[in-house]
Amino acid sequence: MEIRKDVSLKPFNTFGIDVRCSHFVQIDSDEALEALLAESVFLSQPKIILGGGSNVLFRKDVHALVVKNEITGIAVVREDDNHYWVRAGAGENWHGFVLHCIRMGYAGIENLALIPGCVGASPMQNIGAYGVEIKDVFDSLEAVQIPDGSKRTFTRDECDFGYRESVFKRGEKDRWIITHVTLRLNKRPVFHIEYGAIEEELEKINSDRLSIKDVAQAVINIRSSKLPNPAVLGNAGSFFKNPVVAMDLCESLRAAYPEMPAYPVSGSEVKLAAGWLIEQTGWKGRRIGSCGVHDRQALVLVNYGGATGDEIYALSERVAGDVQERFGVTLEREVNLF
Ligand code: EPU
Repeated sequence: MEIRKDVSLKPFNTFGIDVRCSHFVQIDSDEALEALLAESVFLSQPKIILGGGSNVLFRKDVHALVVKNEITGIAVVREDDNHYWVRAGAGENWHGFVLHCIRMGYAGIENLALIPGCVGASPMQNIGAYGVEIKDVFDSLEAVQIPDGSKRTFTRDECDFGYRESVFKRGEKDRWIITHVTLRLNKRPVFHIEYGAIEEELEKINSDRLSIKDVAQAVINIRSSKLPNPAVLGNAGSFFKNPVVAMDLCESLRAAYPEMPAYPVSGSEVKLAAGWLIEQTGWKGRRIGSCGVHDRQALVLVNYGGATGDEIYALSERVAGDVQERFGVTLEREVNLF
């Protein structure tokens, strides 16, 4: 374990923002983390824990110790007639983990294929796509408390998952380093293919007997057609959350825009599609300097190369401001700002 000074974070955030941090360390085992906890830099500096860097926007240089979690390893730790409990290191690449589970026949996360980032960040924001969220298969996670190093296991209930959030984005924010995540996956698949685009893709794949591999392939095809590959075009996936609004507001908007997508959340609340709202304001595909709104999915902001975090932030303010003005709907960011 080597603590380096004045390191560029460009390779470590999928937006590709070139900011520097005062200290940087990569940890690849529980032992390395334990050793880090005793270091004076760890004790004296503010800390940022980074996984895949796929859900962050760095606005300026950070005066902090950035801890890049690279703890790996995947193992079945328990099984019964119906389930495998699969434990993975927080630093495992999420998509690599999904592919491993598909190869091994562990079902339940095939709809979450190709989501960028690492296993450790997946419960923090309760990643989700195409009708499945990680909370649906989550068993527990292991974490180390900052700064005293005490270890704790969080159960599903204790994580208190919500739409793109958990206790780690609320009361427990910045207090834990997640080291391992355990999912309870199915021996016999339970398919979630009701999402329109998945059905269409599966028809194209046209397999005799539906498998989790087919579902993952359908998801990969859809995501690749709409979402920019961060290795090619800097981005952090959905920049905003889909807003949850009161039924009354939804009904008055629906009167003016009958084609507006809306998904009931409860008897009194409805989730709107932020991508649709943004597209209506004319932002889809617009470029301002080195950044812009993606031309195939308006919920994604992109860095065409050389954009600063502040430029992307300013763009997001303009986009959210226009949605607010036109629809009276407030967009909340999904990415974490530093
Ligand atoms: N839409 C538009 N214009 C756009 C984008 C979307 O009109 O530019 C409309 C679509 O036609 C559709 C609706 O908005 O009627 C929803 O669009 P889509 O199915 O593409 O999904 P989304 O709501 O924009 C969410 C997640 C994605 C996830 C997809 C699929 C959030 C913030 N985003 O996007 O997650 O992949 O559903 O389940 O919930 C991420 O979080 O980074 C992410 C990519």
